[in-house]
Amino acid sequence: MKHKHLLTLDDYSRADIEELFKIATELKTNLRQGKDINTLYKKTLALIFEKPSARTRTSFEVGMVQLGGHSMFVQQSEIGMNNRESISDLSKNYSRFVDGVVIRAKKHSDIVEFAKNSSIPVINGLSDSHHPCQGLADIFTIVEKKKSLDLKVAYIGDYNNVSRSLANACHKMGIEFVISSPNKYLNFDSEGLSFCREEDPIAAVKDADVIYTDVWASMGQEDELEKRKKEFSKYAVNDRLIQSAKKDVLFMHCLPARRGEEVMDSVIDGSHSVVFDQAENRMHIQKAVLVKLMGN
Ligand code: CP
Ligand code: NVA
Repeated sequence: MKHKHLLTLDDYSRADIEELFKIATELKTNLRQGKDINTLYKKTLALIFEKPSARTRTSFEVGMVQLGGHSMFVQQSEIGMNNRESISDLSKNYSRFVDGVVIRAKKHSDIVEFAKNSSIPVINGLSDSHHPCQGLADIFTIVEKKKSLDLKVAYIGDYNNVSRSLANACHKMGIEFVISSPNKYLNFDSEGLSFCREEDPIAAVKDADVIYTDVWASMGQEDELEKRKKEFSKYAVNDRLIQSAKKDVLFMHCLPARRGEEVMDSVIDGSHSVVFDQAENRMHIQKAVLVKLMGN
């Protein structure tokens, strides 16, 4: 794998993804066995966040400690990316101080701009259009659980950053991906990805190995929530939907979930749900990304 950054999964091949999975599996096993891995000894990672986060921030920070390195959390309110200072100036400064940067930004183009001016690796920790670390963790979890790629993933809900990266990752790995949304939300450019759109959620989950959902209104779309709650109400993942898929279907969600909206408690807390294993795997796969991009 010869990448400088991880901005989207667009330019990551199946071989690149498989290499990351192999490293993540080793790191996960080593951690379970209590073995110390100091691949990133004394390296520093800056986490520049313009939006809130529980999993992404924590998993990267803990991951850096486990690799022998250090991280620092930098909030947009402090550095004023794009208002106190230009992105290119900030990027050139961070390139002098730290060994890698994770950015969670409102605009994907800001992350691209930061990377363009950076001499160190830049990792997208979520933007309005992509969440590549999530997409990698999702497929890693699916393969870990199902031990196969001959699978169907049914995504029920909004085509957003999470579902775009998931669709991309499925496409790369040869996994069938179907998205089910209200018709008006299915009207998007699928960016060259060959996947199926199915308005009816029951039809979409037929023979599905995985049912996946995310919030109906992402961060930054809060003012649309009430409208979306009405438009998406038929797309809530409930027991009926789970029963309409394969018997051993997995339920997945990137979290945070709005329980009672896109997913019912009985599903997210039920026997098909793997959401916490999925969340844990964020850390293992991101450690693999850090080792590949920041290791010597
Ligand atoms: N799934 C995810 O990225 O969670 P956070 O927003 O809490 O980081
Ligand atoms: N689509 C959600 C994902 C959060 C991890 C959002 O952008 O808010």
